[in-house]
Amino acid sequence: MAEQKSIHGLWRSRWLFILAATGSAVGLGNIWKFPYITGENGGGAFVLVYLACICLIGIPVMIAEVTLGRLGRQSPINTMHALTKDQNANRLWGGIGWMGAVAGFLILSFYSVIAGWSLAYIFRMAGGAFDGATAESVGATFGNMLSSPETLLAWHTIFMVITIGIVARGVNKGLERSISIMMPLLFLILVVLLGYSMSTDGFGAGFEFLFSFDFSKLTGESIIVALGHAFFTLSLGMGAIMAYGAYMPKKSSIGKTVLTVAFLDTLIALIAGLVIFPIVFSNGLEAGAGPGLLFQTLPLAFSHMPGGTLFGTLFFILVAFAALSSAISLGEPVVAWAVESKGMSRVAAATWIGIVIWILGIGTILSFNLWSEYKLFGKTLFDTLDFLTANIMLPLGGLLIAVFVGWAMNKADVKEEVKMGSPLMYTIWRFVLMFIAPVAVAIVLVNGLI
Ligand code: TRP
Repeated sequence: MAEQKSIHGLWRSRWLFILAATGSAVGLGNIWKFPYITGENGGGAFVLVYLACICLIGIPVMIAEVTLGRLGRQSPINTMHALTKDQNANRLWGGIGWMGAVAGFLILSFYSVIAGWSLAYIFRMAGGAFDGATAESVGATFGNMLSSPETLLAWHTIFMVITIGIVARGVNKGLERSISIMMPLLFLILVVLLGYSMSTDGFGAGFEFLFSFDFSKLTGESIIVALGHAFFTLSLGMGAIMAYGAYMPKKSSIGKTVLTVAFLDTLIALIAGLVIFPIVFSNGLEAGAGPGLLFQTLPLAFSHMPGGTLFGTLFFILVAFAALSSAISLGEPVVAWAVESKGMSRVAAATWIGIVIWILGIGTILSFNLWSEYKLFGKTLFDTLDFLTANIMLPLGGLLIAVFVGWAMNKADVKEEVKMGSPLMYTIWRFVLMFIAPVAVAIVLVNGLI
């Protein structure tokens, strides 16, 4: 395919791509979701399945997704459209772009609500709401927040406005700038917290919970959740990483770059687990507490730490920024599409898309209070959206990407673009992408759904 140009600009260097992709990958998925789903699914064995999914499926699909983006150099919808034409493939493959856009809308709609919780907690921590906290009092504070639709709506609104503000400013002035400040700080604070959790008496129990493999606790649903989470945490399957790949400089090796991003993402998830579970166990909290886990354990830990108010406030600021650097990658693909195809300015595109997502988010807000009784297959609207996107749409998107790159595209075009470095690595990647990843995803999806 002839070399394409991005009208949205390029990352200034390979490192900025790594930072941006890591910013997208590291988010609420690592700090909030990974610990609580690990808690709900019994710990170690779940972690092992998750790690296997990252290596065998996540990394190969991520390489494929970045490759598509860099070849097409447009929004995922237009990239898929252009590539199907260029490769003489069936036009239906273009559906990958559209399904991704829908998944992106749905994910951002609930992601923003949860990110709003972290904004709320910045002010609670700073205002000293957790001084002398007990396990009961942190539970009550969290419950009170969830039962107030107005509070949730206010924070959801603020988070969406900031997200849109960044996306509206574009790749270099918006995305790149915000990401390069926050990511290093987040890592630093997590390490400080790890130091604290190592000093608690629950550290051994927490470590064991994460790394001892008791397969009897594994159910069919845990496997699908682990697979879904591998996609969610690496931002795969809906085009976010494809959009970021479209802005990647031509020279960089996609294979090496992706390995770095996946390594950092996994490391940060494991550190988050090592921070949270020791605190859970040393305070007699429930590992299976669900979505509130992070918001109950950390305030409790901070309330016992010297300088806890300061560290706690800082921590929730950083959670919010981690969420923000992910949220912008959920918005970017569709905004880029509206700029390319609807002739809109970035500001107008970001605003309109933001408004639609903001409205969708109200459904998630109500599912924690007024609508909490309405359930579909035993799941609230929030649980349903989370399950449908992370555990069905993303794996399906990833499966289609693997098959498209592995089977439908011209081999030579793909090989030239990925620049894998070593021929052996390339062969392994291609084999896993063509055979292992699609079959594994298909088996898990079919089994999980019936
Ligand atoms: N990976 C992010 C997290 O772990 C969330 C995210 C950002 C995402 N972009 C995505 C998830 C695209 C799926 C698809 O918090």
